[in-house]
Amino acid sequence: DLAEKGGYPDFMMKEIYEQPRVVRDTLVGRLSGAGEIDIDELGLSFEELNLVDRVYIIACGTSLHAGLIAKNNIESWARIPCEVEAASEFRYRDAIITPSTLVVAVSQSGETADTLAAIRDARIKGAKVFGITNVVGSPVARESDGVIYTKANKEIAVASTKSFIGQVVSLTLLAMLLGQVKGRLTPGQTRMLFRDLGDTAGYIQKVLDTQSAAIAEAAAACAHASSALFVGRGMGAAVSFEGALKLKEVSYLHAEAYAAGEMKHGPIALIEPGFPVIAVATKSAVYDKLVSNLKECEARGAKIIAVATEGDEEIGRIADHVIFVPKTCEAFMPIVATVPLQLLAREVALMRGCDVDQPRNLAKSVTVE
Ligand code: G6P
Repeated sequence: DLAEKGGYPDFMMKEIYEQPRVVRDTLVGRLSGAGEIDIDELGLSFEELNLVDRVYIIACGTSLHAGLIAKNNIESWARIPCEVEAASEFRYRDAIITPSTLVVAVSQSGETADTLAAIRDARIKGAKVFGITNVVGSPVARESDGVIYTKANKEIAVASTKSFIGQVVSLTLLAMLLGQVKGRLTPGQTRMLFRDLGDTAGYIQKVLDTQSAAIAEAAAACAHASSALFVGRGMGAAVSFEGALKLKEVSYLHAEAYAAGEMKHGPIALIEPGFPVIAVATKSAVYDKLVSNLKECEARGAKIIAVATEGDEEIGRIADHVIFVPKTCEAFMPIVATVPLQLLAREVALMRGCDVDQPRNLAKSVTVE
């Protein structure tokens, strides 16, 4: 058992620590000498891809959150409208699907019942379906027009960590490819983005190597709360959703994620002295807006835990605990900023005496509706 866990106390930790490798492996062979993103497995020609005028990303659970991150990049690099939807909803509604619709189905296991049903439905309606999965030969792989494998290797802990990172990196490559196809990313820009994307492997490693103590302190500060609120803006909001899900899954502490600008329309009513607010507060165009949202929480006595950019000296004035991540461009921030939230969830779960690898009531893959 210990050997299987590679010397780590649990699979969740082992898998979190594998993430720098997952980033590197997922990128191998994906940039051609001419500066083009190479995803042969897509099964669509350049011309067919050029016709794509709408993207739906369908998935469940953590995989759905990878989609939320990709939406931002697809829309900003390719200017193609992109919707992200739970497969369990998508399959039962009359989504607008035409032959120029690309459906991207994301599933670690490749066998989630709702995701598979949504794939089948989309293909009947004429969409092209591209699968992103971690399991070679899985139903999602077999039933999609094209498939890209995340290079996470087998994931054992029920709560997904390294697969998520593999999904986000794969979806980022897809977004870059669409940007190129639409003539919006030059080979030079693509090369630079690709290099920055690869750099996230080292940044994750740095978080793993340097932030454990800060994360443990932050975990102790919220382990005995009855509820926690995760907030962020832009990409930070997407990261918050995954942070809250991870915490709920493994620690059974109720957590909710909110786009920080929306707090004043409801969640701020929850805040009372000591209430934990976990903020994805990395430097971005909306940083100042987020800080002012956090000041509202501080004024009501919230205990603020911030994931912030290295070198940010301002955030410590309002946050009780700060976990630092290296600076990245906004597009790749989620790959790095999600990692401390995974570790935070794990620490809180351990402090609450939970089994981090096998949370109650959850299954690794959900093959029935
Ligand atoms: C289950 C797992 C989650 C996972 C979700 C979707 O709920 O416990 O970790 O995110 O299914 O699974 P998939 O294999 O389709 O990504």
